[in-house]
Amino acid sequence: MSRKALIAANWKMYKTPAEAKAFVEAFLPLVANQTRDEIALFPSATSLTTVVAATAGSNVAVGLQNMHWAEEGAYTGETSAAMLKAAGATHTLIGHSERRQYFNETDELVNLKLHTALRRGIVPVVCIGEVLDEREAGKTADVLCTQLRGAFSGIAPEAAAPIVIAYEPVWAIGTGKTATPEIAADAHKIIRREVAQILSPAIAESVRILYGGSVKPENASALLTQHDIDGALVGGASLKPDSLAAIVNY
Ligand code: 13P
Repeated sequence: MSRKALIAANWKMYKTPAEAKAFVEAFLPLVANQTRDEIALFPSATSLTTVVAATAGSNVAVGLQNMHWAEEGAYTGETSAAMLKAAGATHTLIGHSERRQYFNETDELVNLKLHTALRRGIVPVVCIGEVLDEREAGKTADVLCTQLRGAFSGIAPEAAAPIVIAYEPVWAIGTGKTATPEIAADAHKIIRREVAQILSPAIAESVRILYGGSVKPENASALLTQHDIDGALVGGASLKPDSLAAIVNY
């Protein structure tokens, strides 16, 4: 079964609405003929409607970098699934390592958010990955499996089809140290095997597993041609239209 790759741009806390609009205007012509892969931009919440308007009718989808699990309520500073959808977004990142590291996002919270996203018809990109100490201690597989089990607790296989997983080794994020294609492919195999156990072999076969961590135009092809790597979640190299387009058009 062939999986359609997803190239996703996580802009993190960069770009005002005007900068986001200028990016999209420069970017769309560079990827206009791209049908092989899906493309999604994840701007900050304040640029969401601008990016949705600027990409309307194009081959580029838009998502939020984070979403709250509750329908609504007294959660200062948060964005709900209904708000995300009303703004025209279709995707959300869940459990990015920076959310886990700086905002105490646990596997339990990731699980709550995943349930909400699936219930509300939002494509969830669930981020997992080990830190350097864990890799050096030989615990990578354990960490990934624990994160997956936590994230997928109570998720029915029949509801799981929209899920996308992003493997982002924390030691490779923003460090310029990319995982080698072999290291990434190994981790993706472990993830796919575990998804077969937790959800089902069919979901394991169809689920897209993206790689993230210092992806750039120079290494995109070596990573994205690995059998178990179904796309990329790009941070720094997604901030410039040419650079993201070069990754999309690898
Ligand atoms: P970099 O591509 O800047 O390493 O960031 C990866 C990332 O965290 C994407 O979500």
